[in-house]
Amino acid sequence: MAESILNYSTAKSLSDDYGTPLYVYDETRLREQAKAALAFPAPFGLTVRYAMKAISTRAILKLFDEEGLHFDASSGYEADRLLLAGIAASKITISTQELPDNFVDLVNNGVAINACSLDQLEKYGQAFPGSEIGLRFNPGLGSGGTNRTNVGGPASSFGIWYEKLDAIREIVSRHDLTVVRVHTHIGSGSDPAVWTRAASLSLKMAEAFDTVRFFNLGGGYKVARMDDETGTDLQVIGQPIADLLRDFADRTGRELHLEIEPGTIMTANAAALLASVQDVTDTGSEGYQFLKLDTGMTEILRPSLYGAQHPIYILQESPSESTQPVIIVGHCCESGDILTPAPADPEGLAPRDLPVASIGDFALIGGAGAYCSAMSAKNYNSFPEVAEVLLHPDDSYSLIRRRQTLEQIVANEID
Ligand SMILES: Cc1ncc(COP(=O)(O)O)c(C=O)c1O
Repeated sequence: MAESILNYSTAKSLSDDYGTPLYVYDETRLREQAKAALAFPAPFGLTVRYAMKAISTRAILKLFDEEGLHFDASSGYEADRLLLAGIAASKITISTQELPDNFVDLVNNGVAINACSLDQLEKYGQAFPGSEIGLRFNPGLGSGGTNRTNVGGPASSFGIWYEKLDAIREIVSRHDLTVVRVHTHIGSGSDPAVWTRAASLSLKMAEAFDTVRFFNLGGGYKVARMDDETGTDLQVIGQPIADLLRDFADRTGRELHLEIEPGTIMTANAAALLASVQDVTDTGSEGYQFLKLDTGMTEILRPSLYGAQHPIYILQESPSESTQPVIIVGHCCESGDILTPAPADPEGLAPRDLPVASIGDFALIGGAGAYCSAMSAKNYNSFPEVAEVLLHPDDSYSLIRRRQTLEQIVANEID
């Protein structure tokens, strides 16, 4: 299980300074992950594009920029947010379900686009005839822990279906485009065999367009948050991919520059959500014991959405000697606001054995760095967006996002 990133005394000082709930990011772990990703085996050059959808707070974007990462944006807004943070446009690519309204401005600024559908390709070609373009393919293969995290194969709408080469060629030639990047992203996985298969299918796309120079394998490197989960060793999955790139070069004479787009693995276990137990209730001897936290789907939606499992630690001044099975619930008036669902089954309940806790104790939800702050049911029940802090290597910390005020929540409302 991902180790707790906080002890009681740091949790207490953080809570005294900023209250709970509070996201806490560990700078050391974030930088270590950046270095690990930059060591991904790549015989002919590597660009690591941090998938900012995982967590898009500016201080973290800047930290990864300092570490030498480039960026993947999933909307025009994400690209603009990167530019606002001072990230160079030349470091940004966009792969989106919805072509941004301002894609012409973004491209004119230096941002590159991966067309993710034939319609996107057509619109790009109309706007930028004679220019270079990337193509996101659905290579026909999916992976992923649940159907909701699987983004490849026939049930997925992401990317251009791999058999549509003729339609692509027609648009490309009509607008005199040059396909320079092949991109695929098939969802979470840690199995080297799946990655090897995804890479070889994607290489077929690169072979089909002899102008391709960049080979982007997307993200989806699974992280182990819990003991029974298997994480991805980037070196282990990278070696066979590097071999495939060497074989490709031997066969075609083309040395492809590899790109990877990790989000989860960069951030998931580098952060935790610090919360307080605000109530304890039960439903009798045949029922359950519940710990109610002052956080929930407003900060962490993954358990409710996917039945995702996060480690939960009870932090107490005098640690309790005994444990009890509890269901941890969030603070929203929503029966699905549960932090201990059954694995991959958001409808099910899975009581967790945790130290006996009382109102006022801290509960720390681990593995909360990816798709938590950036993907939650913000402002539901009018709870404000919570604050975020960055823990520095010398144990000091700084506030990187303030708690939202009620005035900010209602600012755009009109009578
Ligand atoms: C195109 C693209 N690249 C990269 C990622 C990052 O994936 P992960 O966070 O699983 O590494 C995603 C996630 O959905 C994606 O859609």
